[in-house]
Amino acid sequence: MRGRLSSKSSGVLAGDSSGKGSWSSIWLLKPYFKRYLLRLAGGFAALVLVDLLQLFVPRIIRYAVNSLQEGHATPRLLLSCGLYICLIAVSIAGFRFIWRHLILGFSRLVETHLRNRMFSHLLALDKDFFQKTNAGEVMALATNDLAAVQLATGMGIVALIDAVFMGLAAFGFMCYIDPRLTFIAVAPMPLLALLTRTLSSRLHGRFKKVQEQFSVLTEFVRSTISSIRLVKAYNQEEHQSRRFAQMGETYVRNNVRVAVIYGALSPVSSFIANSSMLLVLIFGGRLTIYGTITAGDFVAFISYLFLMTWPMMALGWVTDLFQRGVTSLSRIESLMMARPSLCADENAPSVRIGRGEISARKLSFRYPGQTEPVINGLDLEIPAGTLLGIVGRTGAGKTTLCNLMARLFPVEEGRLFFDGYDVNSVSIDSVRSSIAYVPQDAMLFSDTIAFNIAFGAPEASMEKIEKVARAAAIHDEISAMPEGYETRIGEKGVKLSGGQRQRIAIARALLLDRPIIIIDDGLSGVDMETEHAIIRSISSYLEGRTCIIVSHRIAPVADAHRIVVMENGRIADQGTHSELIERNTFYSSIYRHQTLVPALGGTERGVICGEP
Ligand SMILES: Nc1ncnc2c1ncn2[C@@H]1O[C@H](COP(=O)(O)OP(=O)(O)OP(=O)(O)O)[C@@H](O)[C@H]1O
Ligand SMILES: [Mg+2]
Repeated sequence: MRGRLSSKSSGVLAGDSSGKGSWSSIWLLKPYFKRYLLRLAGGFAALVLVDLLQLFVPRIIRYAVNSLQEGHATPRLLLSCGLYICLIAVSIAGFRFIWRHLILGFSRLVETHLRNRMFSHLLALDKDFFQKTNAGEVMALATNDLAAVQLATGMGIVALIDAVFMGLAAFGFMCYIDPRLTFIAVAPMPLLALLTRTLSSRLHGRFKKVQEQFSVLTEFVRSTISSIRLVKAYNQEEHQSRRFAQMGETYVRNNVRVAVIYGALSPVSSFIANSSMLLVLIFGGRLTIYGTITAGDFVAFISYLFLMTWPMMALGWVTDLFQRGVTSLSRIESLMMARPSLCADENAPSVRIGRGEISARKLSFRYPGQTEPVINGLDLEIPAGTLLGIVGRTGAGKTTLCNLMARLFPVEEGRLFFDGYDVNSVSIDSVRSSIAYVPQDAMLFSDTIAFNIAFGAPEASMEKIEKVARAAAIHDEISAMPEGYETRIGEKGVKLSGGQRQRIAIARALLLDRPIIIIDDGLSGVDMETEHAIIRSISSYLEGRTCIIVSHRIAPVADAHRIVVMENGRIADQGTHSELIERNTFYSSIYRHQTLVPALGGTERGVICGEP
């Protein structure tokens, strides 16, 4: 199982295919058991002490009852027995607090460490992983699966120790009183363990459904609220309310099914425990009448029987807890063993890419599982300090090429050089830290505007942040907001327009001050006037840097030193603006549409995608 990744379309987090998990994944927890060994030892000692003290109480009761029966009991003796029991109760409370703090605290620490490890590992994974695994699966790992591991390493361990130690000790004390009566009394107990096991695994299944339905409900509310304008525009308020009510009904039904098991567990286990009591009353009572055991023994025996009920239930519960914990741990292991397709070679040297010269030779790339290459034997030379424009029809491979250059995708066929270094022979960070990349979708964090601009350089001064915002022609709009740069933007920046988001993304890249800047269709969301303003103001930033601008419009690339026309993952043509207008049909026709059609009163939008 270790390290195996499922190839199922459901994602890479399927864990053990049997759905039961494998104990081999326990290696993930080994470091924590080692690190917190003392804490655990203290917790176990406190737990065993609680068990021992509990086992001592029936001995005191036995002594008191025997004294009464034999006629030498005095009020003083009974009072001291009572005081001893009180003292024991206080000690039990103290030690119980200690074990809960130490053992349950340990399980919380395991949960926290595992969560942090998972998060760091997730950040190391690439697009390939996230394409196969949806966010819901990852969230389930971070919530349900971690909770199952936490329960197994906390209450699971407690239940195991109680079941074994307390169960065996109570059994021993009972045998000491009368072995035959003990075997009669515990006869129904295995049924109790079996019943708890069956009911708790059923409970687990039903509870999972409750949680799943809850996720469906919350996701429905989230998506409805974030698309509220669409809901209103299509008059779907009532329909959405009806769907929500239906989902709510399923949620209630699932909860009722859980309640049925909870409801059954307690009376059925009391019934079994009481059957044992009945047997003890019948057979133990007779033994007491005939004087085989004393009345004190009889009362103590009943107390031990009570003490045995919980360990027997724990025995059934513990197997289910561990099974669930191990299944979840296997799924977490699958995540931890997932490797990015673009693996950093630890021995690859870090180099400084200062000039920004890029060269691609016979570069090819195909997405996982696809036969046709998206980049197909592409050759491209970009001398340092060049402003290169890339145009091409939608789907031509422009974004893929940018991602290859930004080292977000692996270079497996052909070669790619930065300042003469083959990207595969230097560390990934060397290349990434030489590039300021503005991806096609301007992703923003739900934080302040200042935070978003300074994301790549958190220590940047406000002055610098404002300077790049001016260059990206967004400063005035930010200043007009009530809290200026401290304005928080909602999830994915929903309070901003597409063009505003793009300009913030450009400002973020400009702040990085890197030798290479790649802007993938970063001006598509702004009007022509703003586009010109941005081109004018960022041109001073671009001087001396290698700059690659992908665009569906001609204006941002018209002044480029060279413009490349991409077609089916290859370079179909390249030259200056005037050269391409002269000889390239695709280029000249989109130029005509973008300049002449608007001038004649046609819509500019129709040609934005480069579809002449
Ligand atoms: N993650 C992916 N998995 C599989 N195929 C993909 C993936 N991303 C893109 N493609 C495919 O690769 C081809 C090139 O896509 P790419 O995004 O590079 O085009 P593009 O030139 O940037 O297009 P646009 O102008 O619309 O941005 C397209 O056919 C697209 O369907
Ligand atoms: Mg693209």
